[in-house]
Amino acid sequence: MKVRLQKYIADCGITSRRKAEELIVQGKIQINGETTCTLGTKVDPCRDEIRYKGEIIKPEKHQIYLMLYKPEKYVTTVKDQFQRPTVLDLLSEVKERVYPIGRLDYHTSGLLLLTNDGDIAYRIMHPKYEIVKTYIATVKGIPTRDQLEHMRKGIAIEEYITAPASVKMLRKTKNQSVLEIQIHEGRNRQVRKMCQAIGHPVIRLERTKVGKLTLGTLKKGEYRHLTSNEVEYLKKL
Ligand code: URA
Repeated sequence: MKVRLQKYIADCGITSRRKAEELIVQGKIQINGETTCTLGTKVDPCRDEIRYKGEIIKPEKHQIYLMLYKPEKYVTTVKDQFQRPTVLDLLSEVKERVYPIGRLDYHTSGLLLLTNDGDIAYRIMHPKYEIVKTYIATVKGIPTRDQLEHMRKGIAIEEYITAPASVKMLRKTKNQSVLEIQIHEGRNRQVRKMCQAIGHPVIRLERTKVGKLTLGTLKKGEYRHLTSNEVEYLKKL
């Protein structure tokens, strides 16, 4: 899509649109090697090469960081082969092309971060950075102390043993228990598999925290921009 040259220059973070008009009129901008002094000229950001002071200029990418309270029955992939709703359907007002940091299962609800900042996304997802994710799992039955200890120490699921985790019993009723589970690995369906491995399958699963970020007052299906402190926190991790 073509945009006006003065907007393009402003999007590059060079100066305001008004000042950009002055630069154009003063003959300081070249499009594909040709100086243009005409206001209103349109350029194609993907094809045209715009220069200012001899340097090619490109729009600054506006980086955004969102937190979504993912409801159950949404996929966190950008497209789904079964046409199920995706979390991006909940962000239709967001113009930037964001993608989820990590994933939550279709049936898991809770805190999901989304961004267009690839560097942060990489760091949060990489097990090396050991970001703790906190889950509240409602499981079938009442796990014994030994079973919980087994989960804490590391448990064999499929072909690997999980890293040490923090597991707390929060509540129990006659036939269900609510556990708080903190892990930093984030393998596919890890919490569900850990609970299954001790014989207490998950009935409901929600992620409540990523590092120290919490859902706060967000309601299911709502999203918000991270505060600058939250973004700083993620960048420092
Ligand atoms: N572990 C799971 O089993 N499911 C999730 O969605 C996240 C972690």
